[in-house]
Amino acid sequence: MYTTLNLEVGADGVAVVTIDVPGSTANVMTPAFRADLAAVIDRVGSDAGVVGAVITSAKADFMAGGDLKAMVEQFSAPLTKDEAFRIATLMSPLLRKLETSGKPFVAAINGPAMGGGLELALACHARVALDSPQVRLALPEVTLGLIPGAGGSQRLPRLIGVQKALPLLLKGTVLGVRQAEELGLVDNVAGADLVKVARSMVAAANPVQPWDRKGYQVPGGAGFFDVDLGAAYNLTATSIAKDTARNYPAPIALLTVVARGVMLPMDAALHLESCHFAKLVLDPVARNMVRTSFVSKGELDKLARRPRDIPPGKLSQVGVIGAGLMGGGVAQVCAAAGLEVRLVDATLEQAAAGKQRLADVYAKLVQRGRMAQDKVDGILARIVPTADYAQLSGCGLVVEAVFENREVKSQVFRKLQEVLAPDAIIASNTSSLPITGLAEGVSHPERFIGLHFFSPVDRMPLVEVVTGALTAERTLAHALDFIKLLRKTPIVVKDSRGFFTTRVISAYLTESMGMLAEGVKPALIDNAAKLAGMPIGPLSLVDELTIELGYNAMNQEKADLGEAWRAPPGYPVQHKFVAELDRKGRRYGKGFYDYIDGRKTLWPGLDAVYPPAPEQPAVDELKRRMLYIQSLEAARCFEEGVIADPAEGDVGSVLGIAFPAYTGGVFSLIDTVGIRTFVEQCEQLADRYGERYRPSAWLKARAARGEPFYPAASAA
Ligand code: NAI
Repeated sequence: MYTTLNLEVGADGVAVVTIDVPGSTANVMTPAFRADLAAVIDRVGSDAGVVGAVITSAKADFMAGGDLKAMVEQFSAPLTKDEAFRIATLMSPLLRKLETSGKPFVAAINGPAMGGGLELALACHARVALDSPQVRLALPEVTLGLIPGAGGSQRLPRLIGVQKALPLLLKGTVLGVRQAEELGLVDNVAGADLVKVARSMVAAANPVQPWDRKGYQVPGGAGFFDVDLGAAYNLTATSIAKDTARNYPAPIALLTVVARGVMLPMDAALHLESCHFAKLVLDPVARNMVRTSFVSKGELDKLARRPRDIPPGKLSQVGVIGAGLMGGGVAQVCAAAGLEVRLVDATLEQAAAGKQRLADVYAKLVQRGRMAQDKVDGILARIVPTADYAQLSGCGLVVEAVFENREVKSQVFRKLQEVLAPDAIIASNTSSLPITGLAEGVSHPERFIGLHFFSPVDRMPLVEVVTGALTAERTLAHALDFIKLLRKTPIVVKDSRGFFTTRVISAYLTESMGMLAEGVKPALIDNAAKLAGMPIGPLSLVDELTIELGYNAMNQEKADLGEAWRAPPGYPVQHKFVAELDRKGRRYGKGFYDYIDGRKTLWPGLDAVYPPAPEQPAVDELKRRMLYIQSLEAARCFEEGVIADPAEGDVGSVLGIAFPAYTGGVFSLIDTVGIRTFVEQCEQLADRYGERYRPSAWLKARAARGEPFYPAASAA
């Protein structure tokens, strides 16, 4: 009679409810599951022969929570307030019914309990978790632009106190079993006898939740006027404002429902939570974040772009050429993923120095207790530094990360060809040189591909996979398998100057440097970017990368394109700072900023070089320019076929170049503004600031048809 769970009543009168939602590896909250749960609650509540229930799962996870893919579809339809409220109350009243059914429910948490899964467990009258590193508990909704919608924002603070609950809710902190026990999220920890322990807890569990008992007080207090709590609320509000520049509605909603909700009786508190959840459902930020940061990313992680029917290759040993910043990082992530690595540099000393830098970083992590010595030893033992190419003969794939210079790279490729097996793949980590051109010098261009990692390699989750004109499908398939092994997210882009991410971020950086020459105050430029949601201002970022890096790339482009080259707005500024003022960036101690004794301050001479205009532009205008110039460049990439799917462009922009997550990425931003409005506003910017803002005929035609980058979902 149930399709998503199994119910068995034992001789002790305890009903064991085992969740097993079909059609998915994880248990997600589908309509069928909600119907089954409702029936279970009725049965347990009304059957005099049932004393209470244990809820557990047949899958490796306890419950993963909401069906996010379905949610994105729901949220993409034009919804009325009533429909949003209906969505917000699909689960919450059901869990309220569970906790007020008069019979005790005990959650036997056998695997990860995330989001709605943990909310289900919190609605139970007691919880026991399996003592396993696989078991993780979190309410990560805020990180997806939402808040817990099934009572989590109310039950967690009532259970463990507001002060402990708030940071967990705001950050979506993932807890292990022991931490969860310490904090009071679970009452008990058990081994293989988990269900047995849960069964025995049923008899002792009070079927009335603490918050429904007379005289209940929230642990640590609940009122605004409670001195400690009032201060915590104020501090939290301040840090939210600082961290999010009010671009993210979810943390504000969360703070509101916690602060107000804990002072209300439970039913009213749950209603408040539902109202705020509904408001977030109507806000495009939640849809954009769930779609890009979760659904699209998840599909790319599963290698949605891998050519089918090509069997996986066997890869146990890889080579990395260049033991510098990027090569060292690539060697590190490969070794951490269990691959044997040959790390090559011009001399053995340089290769060994590259490995030593990794060893130093790991030593600090061990010292701080963040990594175990034996794990580090294992990783480092897999990295063999050498200058001898013959040592690469067993490598199935080699990543080249030497200087960004065509000639140096060509020499490396020639040497590699001599030693590698006929089916080995050569991958270049170039950040800008077209792959087809680089492949010209190799004898097997079909086995050549671009794998553009980002810095720092161990932390940046994206890899831009660049196919040249002659790259074979098999090479692409095996390169993607390699990226998956490294647990990174790949996007596949067609070869072009700057590929996708470098093109998009360069448009933004050159625009921002151009603003300086227009007379916009430098502090205003950097602050406007942060208010738009960028983690760091563009002038600071260029200083970090060095002004020289972009300047050299521009000069290379100028040489390559000849007559056709047009100087972008930032070029004269780069020229002035590198060639005339010798202020090349942070590494040199001076750029747009001064770096003296570790202190960073704007260079006082800037005003004399680029005098600020008497009238400064509005912050909103600067924010719009910085975001739109990137979305426009992305649209050009799509038009030219550099990027095949807006979802990939969105994931690439958020994960690779820190385009603000609340927008959902460069393409979602256009859809959120509305493609017609976006094109109109770009036309106005083009009239004011230059033709680079002029939308192409293709984009205008798309806007005239009202065709978004994501097909609009029909009403639910
Ligand atoms: P780096 O200067 O830190 O390292 C380059 C390494 O290559 C040095 O250790 C050098 O000794 C070695 N090398 C030079 N010629 C060699 C040869 N003939 N044989 C063997 N080793 C040789 O440079 P970085 O930053 O690691 O960049 C490497 C590549 O990665 C470049 O193509 C760059 O464009 C690309 N890249 C850099 C990013 C960054 O943020 N730095 C991001 C993405 C790509």
